[in-house]
Amino acid sequence: MKVDVLLGLQWGDEGKGKIVDVLTPNYDVIARFQGGPNAGHTLEFDGHKHVLHTIPSGVFRSETHNIIGNGVVIDPVIFQREVEALEAHGVEMKKVLSISRKAHLILPTHCLLDKASESAKGKKKIGSTLKGIGPTYMDKTGRNGLRVGDIDRPDFESKYRHLVEKHLDLLKRFNHEPEHLEELESKWMDSIAFMRQLPRIDSEHTINHHLLQSDKVLAEGAQGSLLDIDFGSYPFVTSSNTICAGACTGLGVAPNRIGEVYGIFKAYCTRVGSGPFPTELFDEDGERLRAIGHEFGATTGRPRRCGWLDLPALKYAIMLNGVTQLIMTKADVLSGFETIKVCTHYHYEGNEIDYFPYDMSENAATPIYKEMPGWKQDLTELREIDTMPEALKSYVNYLEAELGVPITIVSVGPDRSQILVREGQLA
Ligand code: GDP
Ligand code: IMO
Ligand code: MG
Repeated sequence: MKVDVLLGLQWGDEGKGKIVDVLTPNYDVIARFQGGPNAGHTLEFDGHKHVLHTIPSGVFRSETHNIIGNGVVIDPVIFQREVEALEAHGVEMKKVLSISRKAHLILPTHCLLDKASESAKGKKKIGSTLKGIGPTYMDKTGRNGLRVGDIDRPDFESKYRHLVEKHLDLLKRFNHEPEHLEELESKWMDSIAFMRQLPRIDSEHTINHHLLQSDKVLAEGAQGSLLDIDFGSYPFVTSSNTICAGACTGLGVAPNRIGEVYGIFKAYCTRVGSGPFPTELFDEDGERLRAIGHEFGATTGRPRRCGWLDLPALKYAIMLNGVTQLIMTKADVLSGFETIKVCTHYHYEGNEIDYFPYDMSENAATPIYKEMPGWKQDLTELREIDTMPEALKSYVNYLEAELGVPITIVSVGPDRSQILVREGQLA
């Protein structure tokens, strides 16, 4: 068996959580492969809304096993809060979740460093979620990090102290005086004790064992391809590989074990935080996308910047990930626009280009649009693909032809039930 991968093709928040939840009945295992509590994956069903940060989006189906892979970074305090909320909702977390021993831990001082680094950048700040993601991955690659497996070792506290001393030195250089550190540390240590009650595994072996047994595994990505540390709009990116290759390193799965790659994209574009966004709208259309799409961050509550779909960026993401199926979300948000625009090319350094260029600094690439007719009909009650308005069918067919990959699901609302399936994907 192969591992299927589901990931975001834009700047995050494409609706990955919802689609993982929809696809979970087809899988035995759901495994998160990178990122950490910077992610906010929203699932809606039975009138409830759940936002998951560290925990894979398969936890609500009791037959499915969920794994937090080695590529993920975990803040024990946020993790505990998440687990307790799910338990209160009746999910038996000890049964449905395991954590890789090789996943790295976010310390309270990582979060302080994140904040200090962002304030030092001033106007050039990344717009980080301030969850300590960058500093934690820096310690991982700098070979200083603490891992989940370390919490069972007798020298855990001394290793912790050693790393904190390093961080305090760094904070001094930022002229940052940590406040309430003892309080934060005591809470953090309580959450470490909480983590000791949950199964910790060598997840690379577990996942490969599942594959040998012909179990179906879905790898769940966080963030989006345009936030990838190597290929995103650097330096306005996150600190991990969000692309498909990240599933190999973040789970211990060989490249030849990758099967389907589901690329999730919104019918338009959004971005939270700073950085280039060629199709960003500053007018009424942008306001309208934000209002109708409820475009406010699931983790930080910040308003998301909104704009039209960007085909050169999407083609780039499809290339990097080897996408085999596209899933378009939030089609319902476009209902009522007289016309819909799609960016097909950029003006860049005096030329017209159709690719994502090296220099994506603010205003370096300006969009060239194709305009298409919109549709008035509300889509949220639709359940059959054939009932889509003709203008939406044309939009989907046009995108498919441009992108060269089939769009197999169109999502028309936040609820689990609000999907239109093409080509018998879920049959
Ligand atoms: P993720 O990070 O990729 O999982 O996405 P988020 O949960 O951060 O943001 C997606 C938001 O859109 C959430 O509030 C979802 O409930 C919502 N959503 C997902 N799919 C659809 C859809 O097709 N239509 C609408 N209107 N909302 C959707
Ligand atoms: P999900 O999984 C959208 C953005 C931040 C910031 C940049 C770096 O829900 O799609 P970081 O905290 O990683 O240092 O922030 O990346 N960002 C996200 N934007 N969705 C996310 O996750 C994001 N995770 C990080 O806003 O611009
Ligand atoms: Mg999100």
